[in-house]
Amino acid sequence: MSYMKKIIIASALLACSILSYAQSTPALIPQPEVVNLQTGSYALNAQSRIEATGGKEAFRIAELLAAQLRPVTGYGLPVANGLTKTIKANLISLELNNKEDAALGKEGYSLQVNNKGVFIKANQPAGLFYGIQTLLQLFPKEMAGKSLVKRTSWNLTAVSISDKPRFGWRGLMLDCSRHFWTKAEVKEFIDNMSKYKYNLLHWHLTDDQGWRIEIKSLPKLTEVGAWRVDKTGTFGTFSNPTPDEPKTYGGFYTQEDIKEVIQYAADRFVNILPEVDVPGHSSAAIASYPQLANFPEGVRVNSGEKLMNWMGGGKFTAIYDNSLNPAGEYTYEFLDKVFTEVAALFPFDYIHMGGDECAKNFWEKSDAVKELMQKENLKDMHEVQSYFVKRVSKIISAKGKKTIGWDEILEGGLASNAAVMSWRGVKGGLEAIKQGHEVVMSPNTNAYIDFMQGDASIEPPVYSSLRLKTAYEFEPVPADADPKLVKGGQANLWCEQIYNTRHMQYMVWPRAFAISESLWSPKEKKNWNNFVSRTEAHFGRLDEAQIKYAPSMYDPIIKPAYDTTSKELKVDLSTEVEGLDIYYSWDNSFPDRYYPKYTQTLVAPKDASTLKLITYRGKQVTGRMMVIPVADLQKRGTKK
Ligand code: ACM
Repeated sequence: MSYMKKIIIASALLACSILSYAQSTPALIPQPEVVNLQTGSYALNAQSRIEATGGKEAFRIAELLAAQLRPVTGYGLPVANGLTKTIKANLISLELNNKEDAALGKEGYSLQVNNKGVFIKANQPAGLFYGIQTLLQLFPKEMAGKSLVKRTSWNLTAVSISDKPRFGWRGLMLDCSRHFWTKAEVKEFIDNMSKYKYNLLHWHLTDDQGWRIEIKSLPKLTEVGAWRVDKTGTFGTFSNPTPDEPKTYGGFYTQEDIKEVIQYAADRFVNILPEVDVPGHSSAAIASYPQLANFPEGVRVNSGEKLMNWMGGGKFTAIYDNSLNPAGEYTYEFLDKVFTEVAALFPFDYIHMGGDECAKNFWEKSDAVKELMQKENLKDMHEVQSYFVKRVSKIISAKGKKTIGWDEILEGGLASNAAVMSWRGVKGGLEAIKQGHEVVMSPNTNAYIDFMQGDASIEPPVYSSLRLKTAYEFEPVPADADPKLVKGGQANLWCEQIYNTRHMQYMVWPRAFAISESLWSPKEKKNWNNFVSRTEAHFGRLDEAQIKYAPSMYDPIIKPAYDTTSKELKVDLSTEVEGLDIYYSWDNSFPDRYYPKYTQTLVAPKDASTLKLITYRGKQVTGRMMVIPVADLQKRGTKK
């Protein structure tokens, strides 16, 4: 081969590799409906402009985009009305059609990147908003940060995207009772969820551990019910609060705060579903207004001391009476006042009345409840609960709102028109669908992001586990369900074990990526391996945004089996992410990639006391050092 030919071939190869690098599919979460790579690129630079066409909302959304781009790029990025005659080059154009067509619907958008710029079109403002979220993800990861990154330009590969959501209800639930998240923290939560195209915040505002919403006609709810003794350690095991311990932990949202958060969310196309959890989980309300319970003696705002006895098989009792009295007219007068103010504050169609885990042991002892059963011909406690649910649902309807509740509201007969949020798996959801009710799926089998996301030996303790892959397998429409009655789904972040913002973020990400894809993307577009690589790209973005996330997907899955007769401990290891190697030690030292690599079931040496594990991808350490006492493995591996 001549020297010239060699140069030509080498240059061609180089060009190809640059081209293929430049043309790698962008790491978008959730995966859009259609993504087509094009040739060419666009570079945002100091001369670039933003144009908004179609009205005030387009302009506002363009300003939201500019507010993200300006501090990072340092560019001026003026926002102009798109109707002014300017040269259609070197710009980001946002165009609102103000119509509705089936192709893009209310929340869909199209996005083109070509040599002239970025062109986003949508029927409705929400679509433009989701278009800019996708655009932000197309930029290099540094764009997810907040501070200046000096570059002469920010490159975007040419691409054509057309996208709309699979479901209209894409929620995250935030428990603000067990942990009081400040108004600023709630806003930040909304900001981050909207970046992944969630459109509903389920705001869990009341529970045993605190009442968090100002009700002007019932001031004690926040004077008394919002405060408890501050404890540190493991929730559920705290000592009983004593009278001399000050109630310093807590807080609540004033109605002005709530209006501000609702507006903040609305600006990001997030609806807020308020939850007032009754008749169970009501210690904070009862501590404030003891007339609400049959046996109010000793009822207090729970500080994390044991409150419930969980007997298994769905059986449980309360240690003190945390259930509202279903037989007392005062209860319904109280709830009428609460829902009058809640309905006036929140523009969303639905109010969540809770309904979960209502202990019946104090109802069973109550003469008032016995009288109610006779009078109303109620044959068991489920029917008593159903009587309560139907009365509350009537109150909510009278305020012009629709009722939704946890799936226990089905027990003893569901109120007409009520929607069901299925949490004990999908069973309740399926039953509600059979009865013709709308449902929102948030099964604890796939969507409970308060559960541990990896092995118990390394995760902060919670009573159950839910790995990323299982979250990714969340399918809101179970086989045989009528999809028309499935409004969508949500992930729930209960906060008993979440004591600070960094840990809250750790629990949310990356599992909220997985749930967002289950709710937004076409089912047939979901692909676990591909999702993992996009998740890794988004870890880089979260780093830039200074948001914590769990690296648990890199840690091994551990399955011990212990034979109590032969005293043999066997350990099976695997990883949910493909292509990782697991290295181990039994000799107490820290394994690295020069240690034995796991290839088959391990058998513990007779006198070993600790198993240590770590994962690598090639030469790169990925997982965390896991340290597990052999005694724990024996216990976990013993058949019960
Ligand atoms: C629930 O998790 N108790 C709804």
